[in-house]
Amino acid sequence: MRRVAALAVVAAVSLGLAACASKPTPAPAKSEVEVFTWWATGSEKLGLDALVTVFDKQHPNITFVNGAVAGGGGSLAKGILETRLKAGKPPDTFQAHAGKELTDYIAAGQIQDVSFLYDQLGLRKLFPSDLLRLLQVNGKIYSVPTNIHRSNMVWANPRVLAAAGLDPHATYASIAAWFPALDAVKASGKTALSVATTWTQVNLLETVLMSDLGADGYRGLWDKQTDWAGPDVAAALADFAKLMSYTNPDRDAIDWPAATQQVIDGQAAFNVMGDWAVAAFEEQKKVAGTDFTYFPVPGTDGTFGFLADSFTLPVGAPHPDGAKAWLETVSSLEGQTAFNKAKGSIPARTDAKESDFSTYQRSAIKAFRRDDIVPSLAHGAAASITVLDAVSAATKKFSTGASDLATFQADLVAATAS
Ligand code: BGC
Repeated sequence: MRRVAALAVVAAVSLGLAACASKPTPAPAKSEVEVFTWWATGSEKLGLDALVTVFDKQHPNITFVNGAVAGGGGSLAKGILETRLKAGKPPDTFQAHAGKELTDYIAAGQIQDVSFLYDQLGLRKLFPSDLLRLLQVNGKIYSVPTNIHRSNMVWANPRVLAAAGLDPHATYASIAAWFPALDAVKASGKTALSVATTWTQVNLLETVLMSDLGADGYRGLWDKQTDWAGPDVAAALADFAKLMSYTNPDRDAIDWPAATQQVIDGQAAFNVMGDWAVAAFEEQKKVAGTDFTYFPVPGTDGTFGFLADSFTLPVGAPHPDGAKAWLETVSSLEGQTAFNKAKGSIPARTDAKESDFSTYQRSAIKAFRRDDIVPSLAHGAAASITVLDAVSAATKKFSTGASDLATFQADLVAATAS
């Protein structure tokens, strides 16, 4: 008995020593968060960098790991993300558009309900209710929005317009009313309308549909009230085809920054692009009104082609605490202000200070309040990824000369049938 007691004492002492040897208690291991986006270069990377600066300040113990995959509109990122999600190797958080694109991930059971964060951080009152609706299914909220972008804007070079004999500050009431100006630029030897690879052509297409069908007619394309096979869509597609005839020959080989750059550099007069384009002008210190102008795509004044980026908490995220910390920064006033100042978008938070933002952004904030809001096709608000992929394939087929207008329309009917 005594031996047993003695052994117990030795064991207790050595345990105590072991405990002493392990002091001081080690700091919790530095965690990390892999953030998957397509903000890989140029002004988009500057936006992400601005958010990371706030993140590092708010969460110094968590290392940001940049999982960005280049390719505007997520043209490459979304496919890679799908492969990773299917393989059970999700990033800790990923960029996804509010609306139909998000419901794809929800339906596939790939992202988690983050309502608890909305409760913890008091977020429900901070975002516009229309936006919250696009982030939720069955009362659960599945992501945290960073921003609101507008898809239906024209960016123009006033010097190129003046050299073509045009009023550099003119706006146009419809696509048809725009054609004479495009003809004048073409006659001056410059590219009238710059565009890039397929996804930017789909961005252009959605704005022509908004213009020619009107906000209600365009919305009807997504709730089966407007017939894709009808004469109104046929007329819009003819306008789209005509617009494409004014574009740069290298269009299929470039992405949006190069197309917008053609306007910045004075090789082209107009570029139709979401308002991330304004960040490219501002990054290069171009002055609105003098170096560039902007206006809603002809015939869409009063209509806001809406899209919003948001961040998710994937099922099986390897570092959920890192992801939650990222979502907290994304939702914070400081994070939204820093990010959107650099990104060209407007904050999703309604309590952001307007005076923190540029003249263009202040006009977008007003437009968002006042305009008829319609969902963007090219940026995940209106249609699922499957539908968008099929629309993109049909658009590429048409714009590379592999189909005529009638076949293009038939392909779009099939693409949107589901
Ligand atoms: C995203 C924007 C991004 C743009 C171009 C859109 O789908 O919502 O954040 O700037 O694509 O890459």
